[in-house]
Amino acid sequence: MSINYGDRIPNNVNLSGDKTLQRALEHWQPEFLNWWRDMGPDGSQALDVYLRTAVSVDRDGWAQFGYVKMPDYRWGIFLNAFDPNYKINFGEHRGEPGWQEVPGEHRANLRRIIVTQGDTEPASVEQQRHLGLTAPSLYDLRNLFQVNVEEGRHLWAMVYLLHRYFGRDGREEAQALLQRRSGDVDNPRILGAFNERTPDWLAFFMFTYFTDRDGKFQLCALAESGFEPLARTTQFMLTEEAHHMFVGESGVGRVLQRTCQVMNHLKSADPAAIRAAGAIDLQTIQRYLNFHYSVTIDLFGADQSSNAATFFSSGLKGRYEEGKMTDDHVLKGDTYKILEVRDGGIVEREVNALSALNERLRDDYIRDSIAGIGRWNRIIERSGISHRLRAPHKAFNRKIGTLAGVRISPEGGVIPEADWLQNERGWLPTPEDRAFVASLMGRVVAPGKYANWIAPPAVGINRQPMDFEYVRFN
Ligand SMILES: [Fe+2]
Ligand SMILES: [Fe+2]
Repeated sequence: MSINYGDRIPNNVNLSGDKTLQRALEHWQPEFLNWWRDMGPDGSQALDVYLRTAVSVDRDGWAQFGYVKMPDYRWGIFLNAFDPNYKINFGEHRGEPGWQEVPGEHRANLRRIIVTQGDTEPASVEQQRHLGLTAPSLYDLRNLFQVNVEEGRHLWAMVYLLHRYFGRDGREEAQALLQRRSGDVDNPRILGAFNERTPDWLAFFMFTYFTDRDGKFQLCALAESGFEPLARTTQFMLTEEAHHMFVGESGVGRVLQRTCQVMNHLKSADPAAIRAAGAIDLQTIQRYLNFHYSVTIDLFGADQSSNAATFFSSGLKGRYEEGKMTDDHVLKGDTYKILEVRDGGIVEREVNALSALNERLRDDYIRDSIAGIGRWNRIIERSGISHRLRAPHKAFNRKIGTLAGVRISPEGGVIPEADWLQNERGWLPTPEDRAFVASLMGRVVAPGKYANWIAPPAVGINRQPMDFEYVRFN
């Protein structure tokens, strides 16, 4: 499955074999580029950026690195290789061959799933568009841009499916994906977390750690889909997604490393002293973590959802690692535990497993997230500091599902509104926290140099030397 780079739109779907589709996408292409110019990374059009570009969908050697001006990036359509033996692995169609076209009865649901996924991709680019102006190093600036161009490519991935399989309403949805704007009052992005601001680099690293990981879990569930082109598309998106989470995990890790250095140098754990030395105190990092974690787990939706049950039973969206599950993959008689508030406390309740599939995916996500928090804590531990970060309770600060509107502490205690108001400043980033972090943000562009609040990375991108010029300003 080689990629045809001779076409205006690089692809491995034989686009030139379908002239109508090719024309429609070539018509969408300049609109995408207009969107990139208006809403893509601020002040970046002329920069030469050391980016990776997909050149194959093979596991080894799928990407190539080189300097690119971002508007010239070869955004394209890349699906994993076609598997003629692909079978639906769950739900009522279990054991049947995957669908090559959209079944009429599932058309509306599939379109909704694809549009919702597609909407998050340009949203995150919009959320991050000002960050380049305050990048702590050329290495970080390049990583931001890499994430941004790949989110752009993920939009292409979903737009291809809409154009190819959904006719006129698919084309209209593709149009609308370029018209909604993150945080816009009149025409916002579809999901809440994608309308929040990503105002500074600590928020960016938290976002790529937590929110791109939501992307991973959604894509993993869609990679099981009975609609085979969707499965193959999302499988390849996951290859790119891994780097986004790496940017987040290593980014927060480097912030922690620098903070711990400063703490050890000052022999102090006093947040005010750490801040005065130009590093970010662990308490502020914890509050950012609490915010991004709680906002992101809301993305999985209501804990009980008839839509989630329908998507699964009809073979549209599987579970995380569906193939590794040893149950019947139909779940009709099974149960799953969700949380609810009863008698002033949080208790578990068993409900029908099909209705609780959002909650199950959320729990899978939480396990994966917490593992990385453990790795961050090892950085603190190795510095000889006893403080530890932790994930807040699953019910903390929720806005969606049965836990929405209930005041719950990070430890999971149900508390009165007055207690919440008294403690909120210790649990979630305050305007002062954000102003402090913002005060540290200033662009560092000398090769090999890093802002004072973050440690250098352990190794360069594509094993480049530490003083490599990842971005050239011309
Ligand atoms: Fe993405
Ligand atoms: Fe991503």
